[in-house]
Amino acid sequence: MKITQLTPTFGAQISNIDLSVPVTKELKEELNKLFAEHAVLVFPGQPLSPPQFIQAAEIFGVLMEQQIKKFTLPEYPIVGYNSTKDLPRVNGKLQVRGENYHTDHSNDLEPPMATSLVAVQIPSSGGDTQFVDTRKAFDDLDADLKETIIKLKSLHVHQSSRSPRSFAKLSNEEMAKIPQTLQPLVIEHPVNKRPALYLNTGRMEGIEGMEIEAAYSLIDKLYKHATQPKYEYRHKWQVGDLVIWDNRAVMHQANADYDPEEYRYLYRVMLKGNRLNSYRPAL
Ligand code: SIN
Repeated sequence: MKITQLTPTFGAQISNIDLSVPVTKELKEELNKLFAEHAVLVFPGQPLSPPQFIQAAEIFGVLMEQQIKKFTLPEYPIVGYNSTKDLPRVNGKLQVRGENYHTDHSNDLEPPMATSLVAVQIPSSGGDTQFVDTRKAFDDLDADLKETIIKLKSLHVHQSSRSPRSFAKLSNEEMAKIPQTLQPLVIEHPVNKRPALYLNTGRMEGIEGMEIEAAYSLIDKLYKHATQPKYEYRHKWQVGDLVIWDNRAVMHQANADYDPEEYRYLYRVMLKGNRLNSYRPAL
């Protein structure tokens, strides 16, 4: 196995490994250690079938049911997909799902701990996925701001009244199951205890106990800080790349910057997570 660091603070590419077959217990432990440390793992050259993808993702946890049933594989409903063919267009531009930095399903009481994609077909240029390290973004804040925000929580809803994007339309049945949850602004990673900003401007409905304008101004300030290019890893897809990311350590965003006539298709799974804990610094 060859490990190549992708940025100074996060992300690693792992090659010389075959995820189409089961891995040993030792390798599974090593991969999980690497995942907790690097938060984004890129495995090139893994053109997996859906059952192989399920098996590979299970190295890192237990698969989670897909919320949007219409974008799932009929034979393997636990596997979703991101396909250009399903996307609406406005003035010729594709309305790509996930086109602003976010962390998945943050309105769930137990949001998915990780999300993974396998690239089946990609456009000749564009359609990258970007990630930002929300742990490093927290570390870089000044001490006073850190002390203020570690005590705060935000209500995450299906679509915030100030959401910069529209979410996929859900059926009444799906909508009835959609929760809303108070989440800490700063979470503690369950494995390595590192603090990370927990932000999702599409879903955050203000901040508990704060006047609305002040709350959104703080959310915007933190979001602007966390999404600076210095915290970014930009993944340029090749067919057969498997990428897995930790939703408790990074935000990600998709890009609609490719020719809408070209086909982009990726399998997508999520892994079950637990309730998120507020970061509590050691005294
Ligand atoms: C997503 O799953 O949030 C979108 C990622 C992508 O298609 O680039």
